[in-house]
Amino acid sequence: MIDRKRLHKLSRREKQRFVAEHPKSAAMYNTAQSSLLGGVPMNWMKKWAGAFPIFVQRAKGAHFADVDGREYVDLCLGDTGAMTGHSPDVVVEAIARRVREGITLMLPTEDSLWVGTELQRRFGLPYWQFTLTATDANRFAIRIARAITGRPKILVFHYCYHGTVDESFASLHEGVVGPRRGNIGPAVNPAETTRVVEFNDLEALQQALKHNDVACVLAEPAMTNVGIILPEDDYWAAAQQLIKRHGALFIADETHTICAGPGGCSREWRLAPDVLVFGKPIGSGIPGATYGCTEVVAQRISEHIQLEDCDVGGIGGTLAGNALSLAAMRATLEHVLTAPAYEKMIPLATRFADGVSAEIRKHSLPWSVAQLGCRAEYTFTPRSPRNGGESAAAADFELERFLHLYALNRGVLLTPFHNMALMCPATTAADIDLHTRIFAEAAAELTA
Ligand SMILES: Cc1ncc(COP(=O)(O)O)c(C=O)c1O
Repeated sequence: MIDRKRLHKLSRREKQRFVAEHPKSAAMYNTAQSSLLGGVPMNWMKKWAGAFPIFVQRAKGAHFADVDGREYVDLCLGDTGAMTGHSPDVVVEAIARRVREGITLMLPTEDSLWVGTELQRRFGLPYWQFTLTATDANRFAIRIARAITGRPKILVFHYCYHGTVDESFASLHEGVVGPRRGNIGPAVNPAETTRVVEFNDLEALQQALKHNDVACVLAEPAMTNVGIILPEDDYWAAAQQLIKRHGALFIADETHTICAGPGGCSREWRLAPDVLVFGKPIGSGIPGATYGCTEVVAQRISEHIQLEDCDVGGIGGTLAGNALSLAAMRATLEHVLTAPAYEKMIPLATRFADGVSAEIRKHSLPWSVAQLGCRAEYTFTPRSPRNGGESAAAADFELERFLHLYALNRGVLLTPFHNMALMCPATTAADIDLHTRIFAEAAAELTA
């Protein structure tokens, strides 16, 4: 068990070191208080483990430097937005070309043809549409599911995250659905829109579907936003059958699980979603996302969209499918997130998992490590949790922040949300070994 007094003392020391070593970031953060709400351009940026976020000077590949001249290995990679590595040369060239030739027109460019065909090849779904964010792709997929099933509800897993989609900010409170903690200004109690069940529980899924009011199950094939939670053997085979039998659609949100391989978990595990969503790294960080659907879904939705009203139906966006996003997606899919890149990234995640697991054992810590493709993550439980409830119960905010700050002070950035490390094509074994050494030092100090 962790000695809390020791943890407080070590945390205090790391916080002081952080402040002392980042005077320029501190000054920028202070200045930002007068123009940016909370001193940051987006409120999540307050969640980093130090007293203020570090301001970035430049980033390339798996590394970045801050305004204080400090260099970092980036294992957060913009929480997957930069899983391609920062600014891959080939994408930089493609977008620079596109920027000179027109960024957004609300007209298609040839790149969209190439990207549509490539998405077909990767994911096996015939028809694709583009949005600016994965949130939007999920929102539109939900609308489509409601329209074609004529049903009001969606079903999500406890502690899921699918972007800022109103219906998905629901969780269980002693078995009853309500707004998730922290839900800001919900339009309605999400119990009206959403059914919530634990992952890996087929009986609960069946009970929730049996009312025949669920339009779609919106799910990550493996949960990634409350630690990594892998499906149990045959879970998806049975779950997909249940979903189908009860007349709902299966929307696979592969925005993070694209870490499993070039076709996400859907391809790796031979899933057959009705709709598939993929955003974040699809354009190497240039905003863009996509959703694809089956022939049947395409036919059923086209019956619901009249030409005269197609711009006011709640699906689409002025900048969605813009020329710049599509140019970035084409270069990313053709040259960066390729099968050979995964062959390099996945063993590095295994190296991370093996290194951290060995230190956990050496220091007799009751923790475990899970891996999904090029993503790995440690959790403060002896065995990997099997659902969101178990994983959330094992969270330890103070300990997590201490470990993140300890790593940051020694040149490694982890995501601010849990203990996730992501590999990009430019990550090296030396980058991973640096993290393992730092983790070992932290574990030794915590247990000394
Ligand atoms: C699984 C999943 N889907 C969708 C999103 C939303 O992505 P965005 O914030 O780019 O809209 C996220 C964001 O973390 C995510 O993890």
